[in-house]
Amino acid sequence: MRRKLAAGNWKMNGLRADLATLHTLAERHSAAQVDILLCPPATLIGACTDLPFAIGGQDCHPNTSGAHTGDISAAMLADAGASHVITGHSERRADHGETDATVAAKSQAAYDAGLQAVICIGETLNERETGKTLSVIDQQLAGSIPDSSSAANTIIAYEPVWAIGTGKVPTLDQIGEVHAHIRARLTARFSDGDDMRILYGGSVKGSNAADIFGVADVDGALVGGASLKADDFSPIISALE
Ligand code: G3P
Repeated sequence: MRRKLAAGNWKMNGLRADLATLHTLAERHSAAQVDILLCPPATLIGACTDLPFAIGGQDCHPNTSGAHTGDISAAMLADAGASHVITGHSERRADHGETDATVAAKSQAAYDAGLQAVICIGETLNERETGKTLSVIDQQLAGSIPDSSSAANTIIAYEPVWAIGTGKVPTLDQIGEVHAHIRARLTARFSDGDDMRILYGGSVKGSNAADIFGVADVDGALVGGASLKADDFSPIISALE
């Protein structure tokens, strides 16, 4: 039985003054029957460790240490109190030229440091419109997910790039098709692939969350904009409970 997961990715947002929203969330969902993961900017991880949520980084370097100014290793995230890290977000792939191989190396670094990796995959609008969605997903799954992945250390997030921050959401059939496809690939490759959680991400809001969570093989959401305010994130968490 896969436990539902509501994950928030704050991206490059959040100052200490914004932590109040997390304390409000903690009060509202103290008895949550679902897992809650918050991925604040790295500067706030240390300030979040007293919250009753799992805390994650948004990226890590594939190496354990060294001359990489500005980068953060998976061990540093773990040391700061994180239990998870997002790898392969499309904004990292686009802004920093991360390839599937980079994402796999970062995910392996996460496992080695004892972190769970939330590995992101998803097609662009052009790829969707030219009928390449499933082949892109196959390529990303094959290239981004290390052989050492398991349900204990890996969560997959399907985030169509064109749905991120745009207010555009795939149809429920489109979400169902991709999630079923990912599930089939995971079960074919990993002995516990049926236990790996698959999140949907891209313009999830309180108003569409329940419908999306009703789709087979959607085990929760990776939420960007709507995770920044308690009043926006709370209904999404409630829709999973
Ligand atoms: O990682 C979450 C994300 O990319 C989705 O962002 O703002 O569309 O919920 P948003």
